[in-house]
Amino acid sequence: MHIDVLEKKWSQLALGGIGVLVLMILFSAVFQGMHAPSHVETIDSAKLHLSEEFAEDNLGLSIDDQGRYWVRMVAGRYNFFPGFIEVPAQTQITFRWVSMDVLHGVHIPMTNMSTMIVPGYVAEVTTVFPHAGEYPVLCNEYCGMGHDYMWSNIRVVPKHEWQAKHPEQGAQS
Ligand code: CUA
Repeated sequence: MHIDVLEKKWSQLALGGIGVLVLMILFSAVFQGMHAPSHVETIDSAKLHLSEEFAEDNLGLSIDDQGRYWVRMVAGRYNFFPGFIEVPAQTQITFRWVSMDVLHGVHIPMTNMSTMIVPGYVAEVTTVFPHAGEYPVLCNEYCGMGHDYMWSNIRVVPKHEWQAKHPEQGAQS
């Protein structure tokens, strides 16, 4: 089969480019620990209020027996529930998100928090807020007419202030 010289060069260039990208993906996966979200956990979105974990009085921040911080939040058109939470800075916190209706996303600027919230699944992201301050929680998947207004707030309190306020929680690193 005859292949034009120029055509051959372009296909080599294209294949070379693909090769570089594959190597970059392998490098980041093997050496930098970057993986596609793999936490697959299902939940019945229509029965969240009846579920043990995402019942209304179970939402927000909680600390388990091992001193781990958990935040459970429900996304629904057009808000995140609870609409406001307070958490300590420099503390590892695992967020668990569920949707009560359609596809939503959650993005907290200046953190690694950016995930889709797919109905029927639990999205889990562990993060640390290095700095105290007020952070917006924004929906970043188009979910309907009120999408632009779907947001809530997180206040990140300096760690020493948090410990002074909640001495019963002890020192957690
Ligand atoms: Cu929820 Cu956009």
